[in-house]
Amino acid sequence: MDPALVHAAVAAAAGIIRTAGPRGDDGGMAPVQAPPRSLLAPLTIRGRGRSVTFPVAALLAPMDGITDPAFRGLVLDLGDAGGAVTEFLRLSSAPIGGSAIRRELGLRRPPVPVGIQFMTPGVDHLAVSVQNASQEGADWIDLNFGCPAKRVFNRCAGSALLADPGKVEAIVAEAVSATDLPVSAKVRAGIDDDAHLEEVLDAAASGGAAMVTLHARLRRDSYAAPARWEWIARAAEFLRARHPSVVLLGNGGIDSAGDARRMAAETGCDGVMVGRAAFADPFIFRRLRGGPPAGPAEAAGFALRYMDAVLAPGALRGGAGKVKQFVRYTSAGGFFEGREEERVALLRSPGTESIRTFFSGCLEAPAPDAPSPLVDGTESPEGRLP
Ligand SMILES: Cc1cc2nc3c(=O)[nH]c(=O)nc-3n(C[C@H](O)[C@H](O)[C@H](O)COP(=O)(O)O)c2cc1C
Repeated sequence: MDPALVHAAVAAAAGIIRTAGPRGDDGGMAPVQAPPRSLLAPLTIRGRGRSVTFPVAALLAPMDGITDPAFRGLVLDLGDAGGAVTEFLRLSSAPIGGSAIRRELGLRRPPVPVGIQFMTPGVDHLAVSVQNASQEGADWIDLNFGCPAKRVFNRCAGSALLADPGKVEAIVAEAVSATDLPVSAKVRAGIDDDAHLEEVLDAAASGGAAMVTLHARLRRDSYAAPARWEWIARAAEFLRARHPSVVLLGNGGIDSAGDARRMAAETGCDGVMVGRAAFADPFIFRRLRGGPPAGPAEAAGFALRYMDAVLAPGALRGGAGKVKQFVRYTSAGGFFEGREEERVALLRSPGTESIRTFFSGCLEAPAPDAPSPLVDGTESPEGRLP
């Protein structure tokens, strides 16, 4: 993704996070019938031949320009997330080949399932791309029906397909027929309104999707718009009634482990995907398991591993920009709490050496005091995006 767009979207998180998610004024959310499912229980999705089990029902969301193999691998290495989806690979005039898929999956296999995400305007070249992904070791196939970017929308891909449930069904069915891996769909609630939400869910499920992730915003919404969790509750109710085998992940506006628990409890979704909050604090998945927040030394260790990975010879281009992007948004370890001027100075410094020096200096910092226990559904105490 264009770095300016990444910046705009992630920066919007600060606004979102303060307003996102229904907190008592949920505007008529449907009552949840089934008892909420624990996010800490394993979650399985089934394909025609193979199934995938996420050890916990909290996944790292795909974020183009952020969740590259380096960042994703390091988050999964922490051992607390249930799985992850790659940044999207866009189909146009040819199938996606094995080398592009290998590059996106990363050379080193993380210990939990990783799905490869394709974005396509139609079925052309999809079957071969899916077969290539299967051969390259993708654990499942995710299809993008949510990308709002103009250049994607104008080419009738991503969120543009929300206007054409028939095409959503055909695309999912094509992917399902090409593989025995599970296939999932990631959707928004609509383009300009939520009138067709159920139709889109029905289309994805009828096409054979084993899982749907609902990002609870419209295409027209900015990332700063509040996520409408009542749409996730509606989707849960619809799928439970019409397609009970389809797993639903809720997404949008989760800023803390407490938010994730509350989303599951309030909407009845089977699991969650966490995006920007996991970029700010990759230890959010440990918090969800009741573990402690990262102290400065542990978070600095993560930061230095990330720097090593993105600046390594042969790594993707733009490593220095990624390091600065990380510094701009990180909140783990509380390095910059009450010291924003240090963050600004690092962002202004040329190159990345002063950033390395800064994080290296944090390695000796003492661990934080023992955390206070978290109670399901309550606000959690961890940090917010800057
Ligand atoms: C910079 C950025 C890039 C994104 N790239 C993708 C992508 O490649 N595929 C996708 O399905 N969603 C993508 N998304 C959407 C996220 O997966 C997620 O749905 C969205 O950020 C809402 O979740 P959050 O509030 O937890 O961040 C992206 C979001 C951001 C901010």
